Amino acid sequence: MGSTWGNALKISIFGESHGAGIGVVLDGFPSGVDYDEAFILREMERRAPGRNKQSTARREADQPKILSGVFNGKTTGTPICAVIENTNTRSQDYKSLSDQPRPGHADYTGMLRYHGFNDPRGGGHFSGRLTAPLVFAGAMCKLFLRSKGITVGAHIQSIAQIQDTAFDDVEVSAGQLDALRMQEYPILNPRAQDAMLAAIEDARMDCDSVGGVIECAAVGVPAGLGSPMLDTVESRLSSLLFSVPAVKGVEFGVGFGFAEYRGSHANDPFMKTDDGRIVTETNNNGGVLGGITSGMPLLFRTVIKPTPSIAKRQNTLNLVSGQVEPLEIHGRHDPCIVTRAAPVIEAAAAVAITDLYLEGYGYAAE
Ligand SMILES: Cc1cc2nc3c(=O)[nH]c(=O)nc-3n(C[C@H](O)[C@H](O)[C@H](O)COP(=O)(O)O)c2cc1C
Repeated sequence: MGSTWGNALKISIFGESHGAGIGVVLDGFPSGVDYDEAFILREMERRAPGRNKQSTARREADQPKILSGVFNGKTTGTPICAVIENTNTRSQDYKSLSDQPRPGHADYTGMLRYHGFNDPRGGGHFSGRLTAPLVFAGAMCKLFLRSKGITVGAHIQSIAQIQDTAFDDVEVSAGQLDALRMQEYPILNPRAQDAMLAAIEDARMDCDSVGGVIECAAVGVPAGLGSPMLDTVESRLSSLLFSVPAVKGVEFGVGFGFAEYRGSHANDPFMKTDDGRIVTETNNNGGVLGGITSGMPLLFRTVIKPTPSIAKRQNTLNLVSGQVEPLEIHGRHDPCIVTRAAPVIEAAAAVAITDLYLEGYGYAAE
């Protein structure tokens, strides 16, 4: 399994949901970056389970223990290793899943890929829990990016059929992204919150789950990062975004909406600001042209599917008996993972942008 990602900055994520712990190694991270512990813990808290009724009852402190790479409050430039202990496991809930793979989860494909030697407890390496180390990596990258004037943030664009207001593709600001990070439900239109929560509660009461869309932006990203064709900004970001479990689609700018546009409407006209910066009037292309950043806000959306483990009875194949049989999933699962996935998407974006930045600017970035 590919568990290492990146060019100038390499991250490697390890662990299983019910093993001793999970963690991440960041190799190539610049030296001299302030280790802002309060910021890191807040980011971990945003993703952590058991914080509200919409989230799984599995409560974990998600406190990263730094084994290396930070000294006297600053990064050293050598590999950063952080581990997070698993403290609240109930492996008996997952006993039958090797025989009865959950529809929509990775029990079947994971077993095939590892010839039955994978750890299936709590979804093993395929668990959403493995996104905690990614959030740690993303938080470290956000600290680096902050020092370069780059801010990454996201909001819940939709849950089920309930829509939030979209980002202004030109005007989205660092202040707005920072404010969203402090909200329990990161949405732009506060009136959407009750309807979203009601949709989640409705699914929960029905022993079911719902999905949604996360819109993410990065502002302050310099123009000229990335490469054409085989190594575009879109492909680099997407490759990391698709490593987030339950992400099934990514679109940049207007994305699939382009299908309904004419060229005259789709194109982003260039212009010069009063202070001499070259910008575009609109930002339908989401800040990327030819695989290279344009200097406009980087904008993309990811769709998060409904949580596959639902309490509702479903049928699945019993691999031992060869019969289709009813499956009852025990375990503790969120009726909607979109809220917890938002900081994960931001983290994936922050890591990818840091990698692109370090590649573009090399050691000058340090
Ligand atoms: C933050 C987060 C939490 C998740 N929690 C759960 C969960 O409680 N139950 C579950 O079945 N899937 C959960 N998932 C999704 C599964 O891990 C994922 O759907 C599964 O590994 C199959 O991968 P795929 O959906 O990418 O194909 C979570 C994903 C994320 C990002």
